Amino acid sequence: MGYRNVLIEFDDDWGTIIINRPKKLNALNKETIAELHMAFKELNEDDEVRVIIITGSGDRAFVAGADIDEFADFDKDKGKKLSKKGQELLFDFVSNLKKPVIAAINGFALGGGLELAMASHIRVACDTAKMGLPEVSLGLIPGYGGTQRLPQLVGKGKAMEMIMTGTMISADDALKFGLVNHVVPEGELISFCEGLAKKISRNSPIAMGAAIKSINANFEDGVNGFKTEIEEFGNCFGTEDFKEGTAAFLEKRKPSF
Ligand code: COA
Repeated sequence: MGYRNVLIEFDDDWGTIIINRPKKLNALNKETIAELHMAFKELNEDDEVRVIIITGSGDRAFVAGADIDEFADFDKDKGKKLSKKGQELLFDFVSNLKKPVIAAINGFALGGGLELAMASHIRVACDTAKMGLPEVSLGLIPGYGGTQRLPQLVGKGKAMEMIMTGTMISADDALKFGLVNHVVPEGELISFCEGLAKKISRNSPIAMGAAIKSINANFEDGVNGFKTEIEEFGNCFGTEDFKEGTAAFLEKRKPSF
């Protein structure tokens, strides 16, 4: 499909989605959220793609938040719908994909931008990136999962402080708090993420999906993550990947998944 606000690039075993509204610091308007949904779906269904990298175009922003222009005149009902639809189409969708998603945070990741990075499975920031949830300065709270995913990553106390102050933190502080996995020099961000993608793509894609599902189960209401793990672990034994992985080990060769 043709996209207006999103670019997709294909490499060896991974695909990169680039949010492409640099003049608006890649702010997430309705159209961009819908296109991102389609782009993630497309790469998730593409057998050639083992890992998805998501980043922002230009050198200033990953995403500077939800598009404020679009919701400035909203009322209560429209606000609820905005949050629900966004979570379904993009943030929960990304978090529950069967393929690993790496967020390459190349500048401001604010509001919905940080929420998109947090919905991804792994976060890598360049050393100049700035992250925050500034919604309270607009009379709002984070509405794309930020009040839930930030405490999961940094703990309740730090999340309270970040959300209440609405201030931006540096990449180094984000690393200290456990908000990002790695911080790398600006010019090395994409190559570092590609290196990670390469390492991940040597492993079984089926096991990858099972691991994501099991880890996510720990954070779902009313779901026993240990039971999910038992189920997913058992299912792996019925796959071709398991046969190939164990055969390769016993034959002292690299597996071919
Ligand atoms: N929604 C809509 N437009 C946005 C935006 C957002 N979240 N963030 C940035 N933009 C637009 C600006 O309006 C501006 O557009 P214009 O040139 O047509 O006026 C353009 O992007 C560049 O931003 P600008 O504010 O001029 O850049 P800056 O370097 O002075 O400041 C930020 C950068 C990120 C600090 C500032 O843009 C900002 O605070 N953005 C909003 C962050 C936010 O509150 N996000 C949460 C939303 S819920």
